[in-house]
Amino acid sequence: MRIYKVGGAVRDRLLGKPVTDIDWVVVGATTEEMLAKGFRPVGADFPVFLHPKSGEEYALARTERKSGRGYGGFTFHASPEVTLEEDLIRRDLTINAMAEDDQQNLTDPYHGQRDLEARLLRHVSPAFAEDPLRVLRVARFAARYAGLGFTVAPETLELMRQLSESGELEALTAERSWKEISRALMEDQPQVFIEVLRECGALKVLMPEVDALFGVPQPEAHHPEIDTGVHTLSVLEQAARHKQPLTVRWACLLHDLGKGLTPEAEWPRHIAHEHKGLKLIKAFNERFKAPKDCQELALLVGEYHTHGHRALELKPSTLLELLQSFDIYRRPQRFEEFIAACEMDARGRKGLEQRSYPQADYLRGAANAARAVAVQPLLDKGFKGPELGEAIKRERLKALKAYKDAASA
Ligand code: CTP
Repeated sequence: MRIYKVGGAVRDRLLGKPVTDIDWVVVGATTEEMLAKGFRPVGADFPVFLHPKSGEEYALARTERKSGRGYGGFTFHASPEVTLEEDLIRRDLTINAMAEDDQQNLTDPYHGQRDLEARLLRHVSPAFAEDPLRVLRVARFAARYAGLGFTVAPETLELMRQLSESGELEALTAERSWKEISRALMEDQPQVFIEVLRECGALKVLMPEVDALFGVPQPEAHHPEIDTGVHTLSVLEQAARHKQPLTVRWACLLHDLGKGLTPEAEWPRHIAHEHKGLKLIKAFNERFKAPKDCQELALLVGEYHTHGHRALELKPSTLLELLQSFDIYRRPQRFEEFIAACEMDARGRKGLEQRSYPQADYLRGAANAARAVAVQPLLDKGFKGPELGEAIKRERLKALKAYKDAASA
Protein backbone atom coordinates (compact mmCIF):
# COMPACT_ATOMS: atom_id res chain seq x y z
CA MET A 1 0.00 0.00 0.00
CA ARG A 2 1.17 3.53 -0.81
CA ILE A 3 0.11 6.55 1.20
CA TYR A 4 -0.01 10.15 -0.03
CA LYS A 5 -0.90 13.47 1.45
CA VAL A 6 -3.63 15.08 -0.70
CA GLY A 7 -5.92 18.05 -1.09
CA GLY A 8 -5.76 21.14 1.09
CA ALA A 9 -2.58 20.16 2.93
CA VAL A 10 -0.55 20.00 -0.29
CA ARG A 11 -2.18 23.14 -1.68
CA ASP A 12 -1.60 25.21 1.43
CA ARG A 13 1.99 24.06 1.86
CA LEU A 14 2.74 25.17 -1.71
CA LEU A 15 1.00 28.48 -1.02
CA GLY A 16 3.10 28.93 2.10
CA LYS A 17 -0.02 28.89 4.27
CA PRO A 18 -0.32 27.07 7.58
CA VAL A 19 -1.63 23.51 7.25
CA THR A 20 -4.15 22.49 9.89
CA ASP A 21 -5.94 19.44 8.51
CA ILE A 22 -4.15 16.67 6.69
CA ASP A 23 -6.03 14.29 4.40
CA TRP A 24 -4.38 11.12 3.14
CA VAL A 25 -5.16 8.84 0.25
CA VAL A 26 -4.21 5.18 0.32
CA VAL A 27 -3.49 3.36 -2.96
CA GLY A 28 -3.33 -0.41 -3.31
CA ALA A 29 -5.09 -1.37 -0.09
CA THR A 30 -8.32 -3.07 0.87
CA THR A 31 -10.69 -2.27 3.70
CA GLU A 32 -9.57 -5.48 5.44
CA GLU A 33 -5.91 -4.43 5.35
CA MET A 34 -6.78 -1.02 6.80
CA LEU A 35 -8.79 -2.59 9.63
CA ALA A 36 -5.95 -5.04 10.32
CA LYS A 37 -3.60 -2.07 10.76
CA GLY A 38 -5.89 -0.61 13.40
CA PHE A 39 -7.56 2.12 11.30
CA ARG A 40 -11.10 2.92 12.39
CA PRO A 41 -13.79 3.11 9.69
CA VAL A 42 -15.67 6.44 9.49
CA GLY A 43 -18.93 5.16 8.09
CA ALA A 44 -20.37 1.86 7.03
CA ASP A 45 -20.19 2.35 3.24
CA PHE A 46 -17.61 5.07 3.02
CA PRO A 47 -14.02 3.97 2.28
CA VAL A 48 -12.61 6.46 4.78
CA PHE A 49 -10.71 5.60 7.97
CA LEU A 50 -9.24 7.41 10.93
CA HIS A 51 -5.62 6.80 11.88
CA PRO A 52 -5.47 4.94 15.20
CA LYS A 53 -3.10 7.54 16.72
CA SER A 54 -3.29 10.88 14.82
CA GLY A 55 -7.01 10.66 14.09
CA GLU A 56 -6.33 12.03 10.57
CA GLU A 57 -8.47 10.90 7.65
CA TYR A 58 -7.21 8.19 5.32
CA ALA A 59 -9.37 7.46 2.28
CA LEU A 60 -8.92 4.53 -0.04
CA ALA A 61 -8.28 5.72 -3.58
CA ARG A 62 -11.64 5.67 -5.26
CA THR A 63 -13.57 6.54 -8.33
CA GLU A 64 -17.03 7.87 -7.93
CA ARG A 65 -20.02 7.65 -10.18
CA LYS A 66 -23.18 9.51 -9.78
CA SER A 67 -26.16 7.26 -9.40
CA GLY A 68 -28.91 9.69 -8.56
CA ARG A 69 -29.88 13.26 -7.92
CA GLY A 70 -28.38 15.30 -5.13
CA TYR A 71 -26.07 14.28 -2.33
CA GLY A 72 -26.38 10.73 -1.16
CA GLY A 73 -26.79 9.76 -4.77
CA PHE A 74 -23.23 8.45 -4.99
CA THR A 75 -21.83 5.04 -5.49
CA PHE A 76 -18.22 4.58 -4.51
CA HIS A 77 -15.83 2.31 -6.22
CA ALA A 78 -12.78 1.72 -4.07
CA SER A 79 -10.41 -1.10 -4.82
CA PRO A 80 -6.66 -1.73 -4.71
CA GLU A 81 -6.60 -1.30 -8.51
CA VAL A 82 -7.72 2.33 -8.45
CA THR A 83 -4.68 4.48 -9.24
CA LEU A 84 -3.69 7.78 -7.68
CA GLU A 85 -4.43 9.57 -10.97
CA GLU A 86 -7.91 8.06 -11.11
CA ASP A 87 -8.57 9.23 -7.59
CA LEU A 88 -7.28 12.76 -8.24
CA ILE A 89 -9.28 13.29 -11.43
CA ARG A 90 -12.59 13.14 -9.58
CA ARG A 91 -11.65 15.92 -7.18
CA ASP A 92 -13.02 19.44 -7.42
CA LEU A 93 -10.19 21.82 -8.31
CA THR A 94 -6.77 21.28 -9.87
CA ILE A 95 -5.15 23.01 -6.88
CA ASN A 96 -6.87 20.44 -4.64
CA ALA A 97 -5.90 17.50 -6.85
CA MET A 98 -2.23 17.19 -6.04
CA ALA A 99 -0.64 14.46 -3.95
CA GLU A 100 2.66 14.22 -2.14
CA ASP A 101 4.58 11.20 -0.82
CA ASP A 102 6.63 11.15 2.35
CA GLN A 103 9.65 12.54 0.44
CA GLN A 104 7.56 15.55 -0.67
CA ASN A 105 7.56 14.27 -4.27
CA LEU A 106 4.60 15.87 -5.97
CA THR A 107 2.11 13.99 -8.16
CA ASP A 108 0.33 16.65 -10.16
CA PRO A 109 -1.24 15.16 -13.28
CA TYR A 110 -3.82 17.94 -13.69
CA HIS A 111 -1.42 20.88 -13.33
CA GLY A 112 -2.50 22.19 -9.96
CA GLN A 113 0.85 23.82 -9.41
CA ARG A 114 0.57 25.71 -12.68
CA ASP A 115 -2.88 26.95 -11.63
CA LEU A 116 -1.57 27.93 -8.20
CA GLU A 117 1.00 30.10 -9.93
CA ALA A 118 -1.61 31.47 -12.34
CA ARG A 119 -3.92 32.11 -9.35
CA LEU A 120 -6.72 30.13 -10.99
CA LEU A 121 -9.50 28.08 -9.45
CA ARG A 122 -10.06 25.56 -12.20
CA HIS A 123 -12.06 22.33 -12.12
CA VAL A 124 -10.20 19.11 -12.80
CA SER A 125 -12.67 17.34 -15.10
CA PRO A 126 -16.39 17.05 -15.90
CA ALA A 127 -16.63 14.90 -12.73
CA PHE A 128 -16.82 18.27 -10.94
CA ALA A 129 -20.55 18.16 -11.65
CA GLU A 130 -21.00 15.04 -9.53
CA ASP A 131 -21.31 17.14 -6.38
CA PRO A 132 -23.26 20.42 -6.64
CA LEU A 133 -21.84 21.54 -3.28
CA ARG A 134 -18.68 22.29 -5.21
CA VAL A 135 -20.34 25.44 -6.58
CA LEU A 136 -20.31 26.77 -3.01
CA ARG A 137 -16.85 25.39 -2.35
CA VAL A 138 -15.34 27.22 -5.32
CA ALA A 139 -17.02 30.46 -4.24
CA ARG A 140 -15.63 29.90 -0.74
CA PHE A 141 -12.10 29.31 -2.02
CA ALA A 142 -12.47 32.45 -4.15
CA ALA A 143 -13.35 34.38 -0.95
CA ARG A 144 -10.40 32.88 0.88
CA TYR A 145 -7.76 33.42 -1.77
CA ALA A 146 -9.02 36.67 -3.34
CA GLY A 147 -6.33 38.53 -1.40
CA LEU A 148 -3.69 36.43 -3.20
CA GLY A 149 -5.21 37.35 -6.56
CA PHE A 150 -7.11 34.12 -7.28
CA THR A 151 -10.08 34.13 -9.63
CA VAL A 152 -12.39 31.43 -10.98
CA ALA A 153 -11.40 30.12 -14.42
CA PRO A 154 -14.01 31.08 -17.05
CA GLU A 155 -14.69 27.44 -18.00
CA THR A 156 -15.26 26.55 -14.34
CA LEU A 157 -17.63 29.46 -13.91
CA GLU A 158 -19.49 28.21 -16.96
CA LEU A 159 -19.79 24.73 -15.46
CA MET A 160 -20.99 26.27 -12.19
CA ARG A 161 -23.57 28.19 -14.21
CA GLN A 162 -24.82 24.99 -15.84
CA LEU A 163 -25.04 23.28 -12.46
CA SER A 164 -26.96 26.24 -11.02
CA GLU A 165 -29.42 26.16 -13.91
CA SER A 166 -29.86 22.39 -13.75
CA GLY A 167 -31.78 22.50 -10.47
CA GLU A 168 -29.10 20.40 -8.72
CA LEU A 169 -28.41 23.07 -6.09
CA GLU A 170 -31.92 22.68 -4.74
CA ALA A 171 -31.07 19.14 -3.70
CA LEU A 172 -28.35 20.29 -1.30
CA THR A 173 -29.18 19.78 2.35
CA ALA A 174 -29.32 22.76 4.71
CA GLU A 175 -26.51 21.27 6.79
CA ARG A 176 -24.05 20.94 3.93
CA SER A 177 -24.89 24.39 2.57
CA TRP A 178 -24.63 26.03 5.99
CA LYS A 179 -21.20 24.53 6.56
CA GLU A 180 -19.93 26.13 3.37
CA ILE A 181 -21.75 29.42 3.90
CA SER A 182 -20.60 29.85 7.48
CA ARG A 183 -17.01 29.06 6.56
CA ALA A 184 -17.18 31.40 3.57
CA LEU A 185 -18.53 34.24 5.70
CA MET A 186 -15.55 33.85 8.02
CA GLU A 187 -13.02 34.19 5.19
CA ASP A 188 -11.05 37.39 4.62
CA GLN A 189 -13.25 38.54 1.74
CA PRO A 190 -16.71 37.05 2.27
CA GLN A 191 -18.21 39.48 -0.23
CA VAL A 192 -16.33 37.59 -2.96
CA PHE A 193 -18.28 34.44 -2.02
CA ILE A 194 -21.57 36.24 -2.76
CA GLU A 195 -20.16 37.84 -5.91
CA VAL A 196 -19.04 34.50 -7.35
CA LEU A 197 -22.37 32.86 -6.51
CA ARG A 198 -24.10 35.73 -8.26
CA GLU A 199 -21.87 35.54 -11.31
CA CYS A 200 -22.69 31.88 -11.88
CA GLY A 201 -26.41 32.23 -11.19
CA ALA A 202 -26.30 30.23 -7.95
CA LEU A 203 -27.26 33.22 -5.81
CA LYS A 204 -30.73 33.45 -7.27
CA VAL A 205 -31.28 29.78 -6.53
CA LEU A 206 -29.77 29.66 -3.04
CA MET A 207 -30.40 33.18 -1.76
CA PRO A 208 -32.98 34.82 -4.04
CA GLU A 209 -33.64 37.49 -1.39
CA VAL A 210 -30.02 38.67 -1.59
CA ASP A 211 -29.95 38.37 -5.37
CA ALA A 212 -33.04 40.60 -5.52
CA LEU A 213 -31.16 43.46 -3.84
CA PHE A 214 -28.99 44.05 -6.90
CA GLY A 215 -30.50 46.75 -9.07
CA VAL A 216 -32.54 48.20 -6.20
CA PRO A 217 -31.58 51.86 -5.64
CA GLN A 218 -31.34 53.69 -2.33
CA PRO A 219 -31.25 57.48 -1.80
CA GLU A 220 -27.87 58.79 -2.90
CA ALA A 221 -27.64 61.25 0.00
CA HIS A 222 -27.31 58.40 2.52
CA HIS A 223 -25.98 55.77 0.18
CA PRO A 224 -23.50 57.14 -2.35
CA GLU A 225 -23.09 53.60 -3.72
CA ILE A 226 -26.87 53.65 -4.49
CA ASP A 227 -27.33 49.93 -5.26
CA THR A 228 -28.59 47.86 -2.31
CA GLY A 229 -26.75 44.71 -3.41
CA VAL A 230 -23.47 46.61 -3.72
CA HIS A 231 -24.11 48.08 -0.28
CA THR A 232 -24.71 44.63 1.23
CA LEU A 233 -21.40 43.40 -0.18
CA SER A 234 -19.61 46.42 1.27
CA VAL A 235 -21.16 45.81 4.69
CA LEU A 236 -19.87 42.23 4.60
CA GLU A 237 -16.48 43.46 3.51
CA GLN A 238 -16.35 45.85 6.46
CA ALA A 239 -17.45 43.11 8.84
CA ALA A 240 -14.50 40.97 7.72
CA ARG A 241 -12.11 43.89 7.85
CA HIS A 242 -13.17 44.54 11.44
CA LYS A 243 -12.86 40.82 12.31
CA GLN A 244 -16.49 40.47 13.33
CA PRO A 245 -17.81 37.08 14.48
CA LEU A 246 -20.12 34.89 12.37
CA THR A 247 -23.28 36.17 14.07
CA VAL A 248 -22.51 39.74 13.01
CA ARG A 249 -21.51 38.73 9.48
CA TRP A 250 -24.71 36.74 9.06
CA ALA A 251 -26.77 39.68 10.31
CA CYS A 252 -24.91 42.01 7.92
CA LEU A 253 -25.81 39.80 4.97
CA LEU A 254 -29.50 39.77 5.90
CA HIS A 255 -30.08 43.23 7.35
CA ASP A 256 -31.60 44.91 4.29
CA LEU A 257 -33.57 42.04 2.73
CA GLY A 258 -36.75 44.09 3.14
CA LYS A 259 -35.51 46.57 0.55
CA GLY A 260 -35.99 43.91 -2.09
CA LEU A 261 -39.74 44.06 -1.43
CA THR A 262 -40.20 47.79 -2.05
CA PRO A 263 -42.45 48.45 -5.07
CA GLU A 264 -40.48 50.17 -7.83
CA ALA A 265 -42.80 53.18 -7.70
CA GLU A 266 -41.48 53.94 -4.20
CA TRP A 267 -37.78 53.71 -5.10
CA PRO A 268 -35.34 54.93 -3.93
CA ARG A 269 -37.10 55.20 -0.58
CA HIS A 270 -37.73 52.08 1.48
CA ILE A 271 -40.30 52.95 4.07
CA ALA A 272 -40.61 50.35 6.85
CA HIS A 273 -38.18 47.99 5.10
CA GLU A 274 -36.94 46.93 8.54
CA HIS A 275 -40.29 45.48 9.49
CA LYS A 276 -41.20 44.16 6.03
CA GLY A 277 -37.91 42.29 5.83
CA LEU A 278 -38.54 40.23 8.95
CA LYS A 279 -40.48 37.47 7.24
CA LEU A 280 -37.76 37.14 4.61
CA ILE A 281 -35.06 37.02 7.29
CA LYS A 282 -36.99 34.35 9.14
CA ALA A 283 -37.41 32.20 6.04
CA PHE A 284 -33.75 32.69 5.11
CA ASN A 285 -32.62 31.71 8.63
CA GLU A 286 -34.73 28.58 8.51
CA ARG A 287 -33.75 27.56 5.00
CA PHE A 288 -30.13 27.15 6.08
CA LYS A 289 -30.91 26.06 9.63
CA ALA A 290 -28.57 28.77 10.91
CA PRO A 291 -27.61 28.40 14.58
CA LYS A 292 -29.90 30.12 17.06
CA ASP A 293 -27.54 33.00 17.90
CA CYS A 294 -27.17 33.84 14.19
CA GLN A 295 -30.93 33.68 13.64
CA GLU A 296 -31.71 35.89 16.62
CA LEU A 297 -29.16 38.55 15.81
CA ALA A 298 -30.20 38.70 12.14
CA LEU A 299 -33.84 39.31 13.14
CA LEU A 300 -32.94 41.96 15.72
CA VAL A 301 -30.52 43.76 13.41
CA GLY A 302 -33.10 43.60 10.61
CA GLU A 303 -35.73 45.18 12.81
CA TYR A 304 -33.66 47.76 14.67
CA HIS A 305 -30.66 48.82 12.57
CA THR A 306 -32.25 52.17 11.71
CA HIS A 307 -32.80 52.77 15.42
CA GLY A 308 -29.08 52.16 15.87
CA HIS A 309 -28.21 54.79 13.27
CA ARG A 310 -30.64 57.28 14.78
CA ALA A 311 -29.59 56.51 18.36
CA LEU A 312 -28.69 60.11 19.22
CA GLU A 313 -32.11 61.37 18.12
CA LEU A 314 -34.20 58.69 19.81
CA LYS A 315 -36.59 59.73 22.57
CA PRO A 316 -35.66 58.18 25.93
CA SER A 317 -38.80 56.02 25.77
CA THR A 318 -37.84 54.64 22.34
CA LEU A 319 -34.31 54.06 23.55
CA LEU A 320 -35.67 52.14 26.50
CA GLU A 321 -37.87 49.99 24.24
CA LEU A 322 -34.81 49.21 22.14
CA LEU A 323 -32.78 48.16 25.18
CA GLN A 324 -35.66 46.07 26.50
CA SER A 325 -36.07 44.32 23.13
CA PHE A 326 -32.45 43.25 23.35
CA ASP A 327 -32.75 42.15 26.96
CA ILE A 328 -29.47 43.98 27.58
CA TYR A 329 -29.58 43.00 31.25
CA ARG A 330 -29.12 39.29 30.58
CA ARG A 331 -27.67 39.41 27.06
CA PRO A 332 -24.99 42.14 27.03
CA GLN A 333 -22.96 40.39 24.32
CA ARG A 334 -25.87 40.30 21.90
CA PHE A 335 -26.33 44.08 22.22
CA GLU A 336 -22.61 44.58 21.51
CA GLU A 337 -23.03 42.49 18.37
CA PHE A 338 -26.03 44.59 17.34
CA ILE A 339 -23.95 47.76 17.74
CA ALA A 340 -21.16 46.18 15.67
CA ALA A 341 -23.57 45.23 12.88
CA CYS A 342 -25.00 48.78 12.80
CA GLU A 343 -21.50 50.20 12.62
CA MET A 344 -20.58 47.86 9.75
CA ASP A 345 -23.79 48.92 7.97
CA ALA A 346 -22.82 52.58 8.33
CA ARG A 347 -19.26 51.92 7.15
CA GLY A 348 -20.42 49.80 4.22
CA ARG A 349 -21.20 52.90 2.23
CA LYS A 350 -19.09 54.26 -0.59
CA GLY A 351 -16.64 56.87 0.65
CA LEU A 352 -17.89 56.65 4.26
CA GLU A 353 -15.86 53.62 5.33
CA GLN A 354 -13.66 55.67 7.66
CA ARG A 355 -16.34 57.92 9.12
CA SER A 356 -16.65 57.64 12.90
CA TYR A 357 -19.77 56.10 14.36
CA PRO A 358 -20.57 57.95 17.61
CA GLN A 359 -23.83 56.00 17.89
CA ALA A 360 -21.82 53.00 19.12
CA ASP A 361 -20.55 54.63 22.31
CA TYR A 362 -23.82 56.44 22.80
CA LEU A 363 -25.72 53.14 22.75
CA ARG A 364 -23.22 51.51 25.10
CA GLY A 365 -23.58 54.44 27.49
CA ALA A 366 -27.37 54.21 27.35
CA ALA A 367 -27.26 50.49 28.08
CA ASN A 368 -24.98 51.13 31.05
CA ALA A 369 -27.27 53.86 32.35
CA ALA A 370 -30.28 51.55 32.20
CA ARG A 371 -28.34 48.69 33.80
CA ALA A 372 -27.16 50.92 36.62
CA VAL A 373 -30.69 51.33 37.97
CA ALA A 374 -30.72 49.53 41.32
CA VAL A 375 -33.66 47.28 42.12
CA GLN A 376 -33.11 47.02 45.88
CA PRO A 377 -34.41 50.51 46.77
CA LEU A 378 -37.64 49.68 44.91
CA LEU A 379 -38.00 46.39 46.79
CA ASP A 380 -37.39 48.30 50.01
CA LYS A 381 -40.24 50.59 49.07
CA GLY A 382 -42.49 47.52 48.91
CA PHE A 383 -42.93 47.16 45.12
CA LYS A 384 -43.55 43.62 43.89
CA GLY A 385 -44.90 41.68 40.91
CA PRO A 386 -45.96 43.68 37.85
CA GLU A 387 -45.78 46.91 39.86
CA LEU A 388 -42.13 46.29 40.54
CA GLY A 389 -41.60 45.81 36.80
CA GLU A 390 -43.32 49.13 36.09
CA ALA A 391 -41.31 50.91 38.78
CA ILE A 392 -38.02 49.58 37.38
CA LYS A 393 -39.05 50.76 33.93
CA ARG A 394 -39.86 54.24 35.25
CA GLU A 395 -36.48 54.47 36.94
CA ARG A 396 -34.69 53.31 33.81
CA LEU A 397 -36.56 55.88 31.77
CA LYS A 398 -35.50 58.57 34.23
CA ALA A 399 -31.92 57.37 33.96
CA LEU A 400 -32.08 57.50 30.16
CA LYS A 401 -33.53 61.02 30.20
CA ALA A 402 -30.66 62.14 32.40
CA TYR A 403 -28.21 60.31 30.14
CA LYS A 404 -29.57 61.97 27.02
CA ASP A 405 -29.56 65.42 28.63
CA ALA A 406 -26.00 64.97 29.80
CA ALA A 407 -24.90 63.74 26.36
CA SER A 408 -26.48 66.68 24.52
CA ALA A 409 -25.26 69.29 27.06
N1 CTP B 1 -13.06 17.30 -2.25
C1 CTP B 1 -13.73 17.34 -3.46
N2 CTP B 1 -15.05 17.66 -3.50
C2 CTP B 1 -15.74 17.94 -2.37
C3 CTP B 1 -15.07 17.91 -1.13
C4 CTP B 1 -13.73 17.59 -1.11
O1 CTP B 1 -13.13 17.09 -4.48
N3 CTP B 1 -17.03 18.23 -2.45
C5 CTP B 1 -11.64 16.90 -2.21
C6 CTP B 1 -10.65 17.98 -2.59
O2 CTP B 1 -9.56 17.36 -3.23
C7 CTP B 1 -10.21 18.53 -1.25
C8 CTP B 1 -10.19 17.28 -0.40
O3 CTP B 1 -11.27 16.49 -0.90
O4 CTP B 1 -8.95 19.17 -1.32
C9 CTP B 1 -10.38 17.53 1.08
O5 CTP B 1 -11.59 18.20 1.31
P1 CTP B 1 -11.80 19.22 2.49
O6 CTP B 1 -11.06 18.76 3.70
O7 CTP B 1 -13.24 19.50 2.57
O8 CTP B 1 -11.17 20.56 1.95
P2 CTP B 1 -9.70 21.11 1.81
O9 CTP B 1 -9.36 21.18 0.37
O10 CTP B 1 -8.76 20.41 2.70
O11 CTP B 1 -9.88 22.62 2.17
P3 CTP B 1 -10.09 23.37 3.54
O12 CTP B 1 -8.82 24.12 3.69
O13 CTP B 1 -11.24 24.26 3.21
O14 CTP B 1 -10.40 22.37 4.59
